[in-house]
Amino acid sequence: MGRLRISPRAYRQVTLAAAILLALIIVTGAAVRLTGSGLGCPEWPNCTSGRLTAGASDDVHAKIEFANRMVTGLVSLGVIVAVLGSLFRMPRRRDLIWLSLGLVVGVIAQALLGALVVEELLSPPFVMGHFLLSAVLLADAMVLYHRAGLPDDARSRPAVSSSTLWLGRVLVLSASVVLVTGTVVTGAGPHSGDAGSNAKLKATRLDIAVPEVARIHGTTVMVFLGLSLVTLWIVTRQHGNRRLLQRLGLLLALIVAQGALGYTQYFNGVPALLVGFHVAGATAVFSATLAVLLAMYEPVRRRPRLSDTDPSQLSNPDLLPTLHKETQAGVASGATPQQMSP
Ligand code: HEM
Repeated sequence: MGRLRISPRAYRQVTLAAAILLALIIVTGAAVRLTGSGLGCPEWPNCTSGRLTAGASDDVHAKIEFANRMVTGLVSLGVIVAVLGSLFRMPRRRDLIWLSLGLVVGVIAQALLGALVVEELLSPPFVMGHFLLSAVLLADAMVLYHRAGLPDDARSRPAVSSSTLWLGRVLVLSASVVLVTGTVVTGAGPHSGDAGSNAKLKATRLDIAVPEVARIHGTTVMVFLGLSLVTLWIVTRQHGNRRLLQRLGLLLALIVAQGALGYTQYFNGVPALLVGFHVAGATAVFSATLAVLLAMYEPVRRRPRLSDTDPSQLSNPDLLPTLHKETQAGVASGATPQQMSP
């Protein structure tokens, strides 16, 4: 029987599906919290004592929490297919195997953290960690999708100046700070995930005034917005590539929309539906920021290295121009064949 093989194209589709599922679960997880269903299934991995699923007689919170656990199952399946796909992809690539293994480790960590969230009765630091780890997993999946699109004989190199590339990294850091401060607002706010006034089990809240921490969150957003504008200005001046400019434009539009939504929900008593959109918006903003950083790289074909060349090929007339140029460059710089490699 022939060995199972996956084409690079099919594998890229698998990584796209994994990234979409990992973004989706951030929003469905928030829906659990916002409907007060965080303790709908008081046990893990069983939903109720001795039963894995929520039954017809269980309340709506158990059903919602159980539905989210099914989405978790789908995400786990997506991640398993991504890692198996990286092993069956022809040709195999070490970068794709490591990135997909990162997803597996992250999903296992999320399952353990999810159990702790329930055990600790939705204690804010655990809920915050659960959200933030989801963002890390999404970042891993996006890098995996990006790298799966690179030709196998290419490497990635910066397509912008080193200062612009640093600005791109600072943008991702700044978006991460916005996510962290956002989760602190949530940890202090009313949407703990318990069933509210009817709750048998009450979740604790962070002992911080919401207006204080919302002001800090809003300030981190302003810094992030300022950095995005500076990046757009610099990339425009440097006549950066069209894809990068388009992604920066999209990022700015998303930040403005998300900021407007943030203030609207804040001044209207954080209604659950708006907070749900805010979480979806946060996922979109974070993904768009990563997409900006990834657009700052471009693939370049690897040149065949003198040291990699099969000795019998040294007389191959097709390879001679490359080898001749490489040797001349190496001689001019006084480099050994290894030092000449890209
Ligand atoms: C780029 C813009 C923004 C991003 C990426 C962002 C991100 C986030 C995130 C990740 C959360 C936590 C969600 C959770 O833990 O489930 C959050 C919560 C929150 N954000 Fe923002 N935010 C942005 C702008 C704003 C602005 C301008 C305000 C206005 C003050 C705001 C107000 C809030 C409030 C009140 C919460 C708590 C909602 C709750 O009770 O759960 N956000 N934000």
